[in-house]
Amino acid sequence: MANAPERNPPEQLRSQRWLGADDLRSFGHRSRLKQMGFGPEDYEGKPVIAILNTWSEFNTCHTHFRERAADVKRGVLQAGGFPVEVPVMSLSETFMKPSAMFYRNLLAMEVEEVIRCHPVDGVVLMGGCDKTTPGLIMGAISAGVPAIYVPGGPMLKGNFCGTTLGSGTDAWKYWAERCAGNLDDCQWRQIEDGIARSPGHCMTMGTASTMTAIAEALGLTLPGASSIPAVHAAHNRMASASGRRIVHLVRVNAGCCEILTERAFENAITCDMAIGGSTNAIIHLIAMAGRAGIRLPLEKFDEVSHRTPVLANLRPSGQYLMEDFYDAGGLPALLHNIRHLLHLDCPTVNGRTLGENIADAKVYNDNVILNPDKPLSQAGATFILRGNLAPDGCVIKPTCAEPRLLKHTGPALVFKDYPDLKARIDDDKLPVTPDSVLVLQNGGPEGAPGMPEWGMLPIPRKLLRQGVRDMVRVSDARMSGTSYGTCVLHVSPESAVGGPLAFVRDGDLIELDVQARRIHLRVTDEELARRREQWKPPAARFGRGYGKLFCSETTQAHEGCDFKFLHAGPPTPEPDIF
Ligand code: FES
Repeated sequence: MANAPERNPPEQLRSQRWLGADDLRSFGHRSRLKQMGFGPEDYEGKPVIAILNTWSEFNTCHTHFRERAADVKRGVLQAGGFPVEVPVMSLSETFMKPSAMFYRNLLAMEVEEVIRCHPVDGVVLMGGCDKTTPGLIMGAISAGVPAIYVPGGPMLKGNFCGTTLGSGTDAWKYWAERCAGNLDDCQWRQIEDGIARSPGHCMTMGTASTMTAIAEALGLTLPGASSIPAVHAAHNRMASASGRRIVHLVRVNAGCCEILTERAFENAITCDMAIGGSTNAIIHLIAMAGRAGIRLPLEKFDEVSHRTPVLANLRPSGQYLMEDFYDAGGLPALLHNIRHLLHLDCPTVNGRTLGENIADAKVYNDNVILNPDKPLSQAGATFILRGNLAPDGCVIKPTCAEPRLLKHTGPALVFKDYPDLKARIDDDKLPVTPDSVLVLQNGGPEGAPGMPEWGMLPIPRKLLRQGVRDMVRVSDARMSGTSYGTCVLHVSPESAVGGPLAFVRDGDLIELDVQARRIHLRVTDEELARRREQWKPPAARFGRGYGKLFCSETTQAHEGCDFKFLHAGPPTPEPDIF
């Protein structure tokens, strides 16, 4: 498709409505471009390419984005386009509270409307830090113009006294050692110095690496783009090549709906499972597909998970980091190893099919990208569980759990919300044993709000001192893609809207059987009904503003947490220009 002859001649470009007419409004647009020093030779007959840049000094993962935007511009100019850099909201996983997830839909709305209200023919989406990828892609899908994704790239490996550090994963790990009294102030400071030492997103297989890999598997990036470290010179070259490519995509009028088919999403789910991807990917994939009018039920993830081995030996499931993954051949090499599970005929932005893009890819280190007959796990990274505790499903990442806990029954120890957990978790009098099941309520989309990454509930300090490093934990929250442990997440419906999780009480027995895909609260239906009658929903948290919009419009985790009014629907009219 994207190598087709030009079918979007200059006079039919969308931007011509702003720039091409002989009227007062177009006069205003052209005269204001002249104000910036641009004349007709800069834009006349050329596709206008918006470079949507999520640079921000609060987003430490995107500190190289101004430079990369310049690389993209270079490519756009080389191909005969007119580049315009446009800032859009940056979702900093590190600094945004209550959670960057709370603002994913706001970014998506901004992207859609920024495209719609401006003379834009095509977009380059620059993201990387967790929620920026789905937010940008969701908005671009809804706007319906040709788009290409430029992934920000992972940062360099961390280092602590000669030991490799992975972002997130090793922060949790060494924090547990610090709480157990095994790390002094000086060592803790050295870890702080060395765990994030270059531009780029988290270099574990966290949500950022997962979502950029998914963007590539969907066909929205140039081949191999998502694995390139942020500071590698190949990253600059990929950015300028993306700039060249988007101009062509506009000329052939190749919108992303041609790429984002149901089969492309199935490829993305397969990729997610094979890389040991973040559990967050499930929510984002459902939301992105929803924008394209495609429904992804949780059963689809479980079906793909059953047949897909985990081949990326990357933390938190495995041993290595993204820099190693790139050197081992990167995503194309991994996809080559599972090519029999992929729809190879799906088109991608470079005009070739996914199958053509990965046909010659090679693995250079099979300790990092594993052979299919020696996988990290025979089944995929994320399992879907159901039971009376989660009628609409919940998820677990078994590769990150202690195997002995994958079948476990234990008494619940319930925290009614995160402040309650913070207040009590390290109390030496907490009635907890290694067999307890820690339960967190009100951590979901409405309850928290924004479904923060609280799902890796901390191990109580008194158990840490006894050497306990994993326990069964259950919540309606998410967990960071860099986290690990036997954490049952995304329980749906959430407790704040009256899901059964709201009715769990201390001492109730909870049965977890991951192989059977089951989670069960050993309480009779009659008793649950009685508790439901006594239950009172939490008071509304927001009386106005974005929080009010979020809580009234968000869907549940199994539906992707997109706003109801943003799902695919009838086309939104183009703006009038009067
Ligand atoms: Fe940005 Fe992890 S904090 S990707």
